[in-house]
Amino acid sequence: MIGRLNHVAIAVPDIAAAAEMYRKTLGAEVSAPEALEEHGVTVVFITLPNTKIELLEPLGGESPIARFLERNPDGGMHHICYEVDDIVAARDQLVNSGARVLGSGEPRIGAHGKPVLFLHPKDFNGTLIELEQT
Ligand code: CO
Repeated sequence: MIGRLNHVAIAVPDIAAAAEMYRKTLGAEVSAPEALEEHGVTVVFITLPNTKIELLEPLGGESPIARFLERNPDGGMHHICYEVDDIVAARDQLVNSGARVLGSGEPRIGAHGKPVLFLHPKDFNGTLIELEQT
C-alpha cells in the first residue's frame, strides 16, 4: 500500500539555526521558512536527491509539536511520511486492520497542499506516520 518515502520531519527549537546547519554544515538545498498557521508550525524544506527533510518549529500557543519539544529540548525526529495513491482507501484498509488514525480521521490538506492523515505511533513501533496522497 505505501509507496515512496516523501519526507522525514524533524522538530527543532530554532528553525533558523537548524536551517543554517543543514545549509552550511551539511551542504543541503534549504528553502525559506514558511509559516503554516493552521498547522501551528513554521516549516523549512530540505531537498535531497531521493527525499525531503522537513524542519518544524512551533508556531503559536497550540502547536502540535510544543509538547514534543518539551520532552526533547534539542529537537528530534517527529514523523515520517509515506506516499499513497488513494488516502481514503488506505485509511479504510488501515482502520480495518486495527490501526488508529489521529484526529477526526478525515484527511486534511498538509504542508505540500495534498491530503494527509496521521497514524497513531503506538500502532507503528513508536513512530508517528503521516500518509500523503500523491
Ligand atoms: Co510531514
